[in-house]
Amino acid sequence: MAYNLLKGKNGIIFGALNDMSIAWKVAEKAHEEGAKISLTNTATALRLGDLQQLGDKLGAPVIAADATSVEDLERVFKESMDFFGGKIDFILHSIGMSLNVRKKNPYDDLNYEYMNKTIDISAISFHKILQTARKLDAINDWGSVLALSYVAAQRTFYGYNEMADVKAMLESIARSFGYIYGRDKKIRVNTISQSPTLTTAGSGVKGINDLLDFSERMSPLGNATAEDCANYCVVMFSDLSKKVTMQNLMHDGGFSSVGMSWRAMQIYSKSLDDIEKEIKEVID
Ligand SMILES: NC(=O)c1ccc[n+]([C@@H]2O[C@H](COP(=O)([O-])OP(=O)(O)OC[C@H]3O[C@@H](n4cnc5c(N)ncnc54)[C@H](O)[C@@H]3O)[C@@H](O)[C@H]2O)c1
Repeated sequence: MAYNLLKGKNGIIFGALNDMSIAWKVAEKAHEEGAKISLTNTATALRLGDLQQLGDKLGAPVIAADATSVEDLERVFKESMDFFGGKIDFILHSIGMSLNVRKKNPYDDLNYEYMNKTIDISAISFHKILQTARKLDAINDWGSVLALSYVAAQRTFYGYNEMADVKAMLESIARSFGYIYGRDKKIRVNTISQSPTLTTAGSGVKGINDLLDFSERMSPLGNATAEDCANYCVVMFSDLSKKVTMQNLMHDGGFSSVGMSWRAMQIYSKSLDDIEKEIKEVID
């Protein structure tokens, strides 16, 4: 059901690759809620993914841009504003890529050139988007900017590797720029810390299926899906969240506040029973 929450608003969505992408669901929801949007991703992603299909479906321009290039970002803002015939009300940064994870380098044997690139793509790109938009005065007063994060920024998760450090930086950029944007233009900047989600980037996380199962058992509401995340993004882009800024908003079914759930405990004790049985059989 649509509520017209974004009627009359214009937004740019970074990072939709295919129909599993969180950004893809956000684009669909934002359109459903009455927004006009533009879509952008790298030239490679446009070649390998299905973004043009989404653009055709939603009547949205698709702009090829590398989010690490300020020149490309200037083009994204200018072309989007030409299309909208005005400034932007909301932006989604849904960009993440780790070269060390891709190359299976463990955290204690990182390649630093890769790490620099990972930081540039997954965190500094957010700063570049915010700074470029500010220099172009591209965002309307009371606009809303979001980036997507993960709880590994605060707590250690085996397998999340260098992305944990990068997400911590991403969340910090939201606070630092949120202050400036809020003070000058009443524009809010937040991150949403999303449950593990089966997407192309998500599948790269070591042990993602076990992680999904674990967090599902640990979260009283269960994992938040990409569709749930899209709904939350729409609320954060809408006028219903005007005074929320500089926050890292946990969107994880309660996972981050639980120490041990009953369901996880059952699995844990069941495995212990199995192990004890196995040991007994070996000793017997
Ligand atoms: N999937 C999860 O479990 C999960 C959980 C929490 C947060 N997130 C975050 O959500 C965001 C979206 O990821 P997703 O899970 O939808 O996966 P996804 O693979 O669909 O999206 C990642 C996107 O980043 C884009 N990208 C990579 N390099 C880029 C560059 N240089 N310039 C512009 N775009 C570039 C990719 O083309 C892709 O579209 C990421 O920030 C990710 O870290 C994902």
